[in-house]
Amino acid sequence: MHNLAGKRALVTGGSGAIGRAVCTSLAAAGAEIVLTYFSDRDGAAATAAAVVAAGSKATVLRVNFADDGNTAAFLRELEAHVPLDILVSNAASGVVRPTADLVDRHWNWSMAVNATSLFRVMQMLTAADAAAPRLRDGGRIVALSSLGGDRAIPQYAAVGASKAAMASLVRNLCVDLGPRGITANVVSPGLVMTRALQAFPNKDQLIDVAKAKTPAPRLVTPDDVAGVVRFLCSDAAAMISGQTLHVDGGYTAVA
Ligand SMILES: NC(=O)c1ccc[n+]([C@@H]2O[C@H](COP(=O)([O-])OP(=O)(O)OC[C@H]3O[C@@H](n4cnc5c(N)ncnc54)[C@H](OP(=O)(O)O)[C@@H]3O)[C@@H](O)[C@H]2O)c1
Repeated sequence: MHNLAGKRALVTGGSGAIGRAVCTSLAAAGAEIVLTYFSDRDGAAATAAAVVAAGSKATVLRVNFADDGNTAAFLRELEAHVPLDILVSNAASGVVRPTADLVDRHWNWSMAVNATSLFRVMQMLTAADAAAPRLRDGGRIVALSSLGGDRAIPQYAAVGASKAAMASLVRNLCVDLGPRGITANVVSPGLVMTRALQAFPNKDQLIDVAKAKTPAPRLVTPDDVAGVVRFLCSDAAAMISGQTLHVDGGYTAVA
């Protein structure tokens, strides 16, 4: 069991299934949790209850990362909850449709929620004018990507590009913050049966392909992802940085 007692974690997108599993897992290891939601207040409350049941403390904040003004207000609110030790950038949204049908609004929404969100939070956490570090030395940054972040998936250009941008930012954070003992990594799950799949017009086909191509005997669960995130947040992973860990039961190893 990893020990995160005394640590404080911000988990964005804590109302969703993977976010909830991450919050619960970090809480069970002793971390205090600050979680965000966008539209699912009940989902956020359920996550907060799970954190408390795991023996820790939860604070729930609302943010719409697609709205600059709202994001700025959220970051001001977050100032009452720093310093942090862990940032899990998990919130995601995006428009899934053929590349030729994408318009600026689709592109900008996907980029804002999936990539610019991490940039903005990190701007706040590493602001040079802060009286004290807002992300402590020895801290952890984990960002959730997906297979479409480093390969072409039908109808996934906007989301895939946003995940690729996010992963590039993570690699740069690894270099910039490494001297402070802060690590930055990407966790890229295979298909996980969450409500996010409802956004895919071809979801049945995606599920069939995932089942057929995954060497492991089952698909990835939110708890599988949360376990890897918790490991990356632990002392055991102090020298893992700038990496993308695929949590996909071997899917990406198949030719
Ligand atoms: N499910 C999969 O197959 C899969 C595979 C690979 C990677 N991932 C990644 O894993 C992460 C979690 O996925 P999930 O399946 O748990 O997704 P999910 O259930 O759809 O949850 C997404 C989370 O992001 C939040 N969010 C959505 N739009 C937002 C906005 N405009 N501003 C702020 N927050 C916003 C949602 O908040 P509300 O619900 O409160 O609106 C929710 O908490 C994502 O980064 C996703 O890309 C998922």
